[in-house]
Amino acid sequence: MADLGNPTDKTIRILVAEWAKDRVAPQQCEELIALLINLARGARVITSSGRLHSGYARSENLIEELVNHLRPHRRQGEILGTGWRLERYLGRGSYGEVWLGLNEDFPAPRAFKFFTTPCKQSLTSIRREKANLANVLQRLGRHPNIVEFIDVANDDHGAFAVLEYVGGGSLEDWIREEPSKREVLEKDEVIRGIIAGLARAHSQGIYHCDLKPANVLLTDGPWPQPKIADFGLATVASPITPAPPPLSSGGPVGTAMYLPPEADDGLHPRNPAQDDVFAVGVIWYQLVVERIERPPYNFAERLETHQLDPHRIGLIARCLAEPNRRFRNAQELEEMLQGVEALECESPSGCFNVHPLLREYLARVEG
Ligand SMILES: Nc1ncnc2c1ncn2[C@@H]1O[C@H](COP(=O)(O)OP(=O)(O)OP(=O)(O)O)[C@@H](O)[C@H]1O
Ligand SMILES: [Mg+2]
Repeated sequence: MADLGNPTDKTIRILVAEWAKDRVAPQQCEELIALLINLARGARVITSSGRLHSGYARSENLIEELVNHLRPHRRQGEILGTGWRLERYLGRGSYGEVWLGLNEDFPAPRAFKFFTTPCKQSLTSIRREKANLANVLQRLGRHPNIVEFIDVANDDHGAFAVLEYVGGGSLEDWIREEPSKREVLEKDEVIRGIIAGLARAHSQGIYHCDLKPANVLLTDGPWPQPKIADFGLATVASPITPAPPPLSSGGPVGTAMYLPPEADDGLHPRNPAQDDVFAVGVIWYQLVVERIERPPYNFAERLETHQLDPHRIGLIARCLAEPNRRFRNAQELEEMLQGVEALECESPSGCFNVHPLLREYLARVEG
C-alpha cells in the first residue's frame, strides 16, 4: 500500500500500458488502469506534514471500502445521450468520477464529471448542484485560467457536469512527479495565472472554497498554463450584495491542509475570499518547495533557500497571515503582485520581516 501510494496517475497509465501490450484488450487495460488509479488514491491521503497516510488503513472495514471505491461506475466506450463517448478514466474525487469524452462532431475533447457519491445522487442534491453550477457558469464566463464549465446535465444514471478537458494533469501531480519526468514549469507564471483566475471569480462574488493543487489543472504540452477547476463547490454571493457571505464554522468544507488556522477553532464566521487567499499562500509555498505539505512556522527561511525573492515571500506571508493582515481577496493580492513585478528591476528593499505573531499563528496548527 505504501508503494502504491506514490505513483501518479500518469505513471500508472504508462506502466500498465507497457505491461498490457499484446496481453489484454484495450478495454480491459483501461479497467485495470482505473482500478489501480483508485487504489493508489485511497492509499495516498497526505498528512499536513506531507507524509503519506493511507485512507484504507484507517478504515474499519477494509475489504468493503476497497470494493466500494475501486470500480468506476461508468464504463469505457459508453455513449452518452449527446453522442459523447467515454474514452478514458481520469480519476475520482469527493463528488464522483471524471472521464475524458470524445465526439467526432466536435474537435475538442471534454471532461465529464459524474456525481456518483451517494449523498450527491439524491434528487434534491442534484437539483441544488445543478442550480449552483448553472449560476457559477453564468457568472464566471470565460477566463484563460479557469476550466471552462460547459453544461450540467443528467441521464438515467444521474447528474454530470461537462467541462473543458485540460490534458496536462494537476499541479499536485506535477509537484509529486519525479523532476526528470515532468514538463518545465514557469512557476511565477503559474502562480500569476492562479491569482488572475481567482481574482476574476472573486470580482463576480464567487469563492472557490476548495482551492488546492489537485484543483489546479495544467494545459498539455511545453510551458503548461494553470486553470482552476471545480468551482462547483463555490459559495455564490447574491448579485445585489456582492460582499462575500460569511462562512459559518459548519459551512462548506475544504481540504484541511489548505484551510486557515481560524477554521480550526470554529468560533468565528470566516470570509470565504480570505479562505481562498490562504489556500493560494499554501499552494504558492508548495509550488516553490515542490512538496505537498503545510507551510511550517519558518516557511520564509525555507522559501529563501529556494531563492524566492523577499517581495514574493512577503506576499506569501500576507496570504498566510491572520485575517486582519491577510489580503482581503484575490484582487488585492493580484494588485500587490503587479506592484512587485513593476519593481522587479529595482534592487530588493532590504530585509523583510515576518511578523513574530505570524510565526506563532502558523505554529498553532503544527502542534
Ligand atoms: N476538466 C478536467 N480536465 C481534465 N482532467 C480533469 C478535469 N477535471 C478533473 N480532472 C481529473 O479527474 C480526476 C478527479 O478529479 P476531481 O476533481 O473529481 O478530484 P480531486 O480534484 O482529486 O478532488 P476534489 O473532489 O476534492 O476536487 C483528477 O485526476 C483530475 O485531475
Ligand atoms: Mg477536483
